Amino acid sequence: MADTTAIGLHQASADQLADKLNTLLANYQIFYMNVRGYHWNVKGQHFFELHTKFEEYYTDLLTKVDEVAERILTLGHQPLHAYSDYVRVADIAEDKNVHDGEACVRGIVQGLQTLIELQRELLSLASDADDEGTASLASDYIREQEKTVWMLNAYLG
Ligand SMILES: [Fe+2]
Repeated sequence: MADTTAIGLHQASADQLADKLNTLLANYQIFYMNVRGYHWNVKGQHFFELHTKFEEYYTDLLTKVDEVAERILTLGHQPLHAYSDYVRVADIAEDKNVHDGEACVRGIVQGLQTLIELQRELLSLASDADDEGTASLASDYIREQEKTVWMLNAYLG
């Protein structure tokens, strides 16, 4: 049917989901680079602990960047792949020259909060469209990142 995608979703729903996923992708890419910056720039007594932890986070973000982009392709759309587009589309702002460990951790908490909020909206759209693939991706990310927010807030005291 002309109004159905290769995986049997309504075309209009797939278009809307891909658009939301591209917004999510842009946010992941900016956030990834921010966390990479925290890994490089953090200073102080907790350097070794935070430098290592930030590497764990940005490595995980890179995996999610690829999964989100490939979900967009699975829906029959084109993932954004230029930094100029990411900066234009993302809600998360670039965070430069942050050296204080607690400020880095706060930046990560705020970034995760933005991602969680976007993914809740995505989950709701995906559920309405019977798109279980996108819904389960979003709910897995939400559950993981909610736990990370708890741990980072525990770190901040
Ligand atoms: Fe490194």
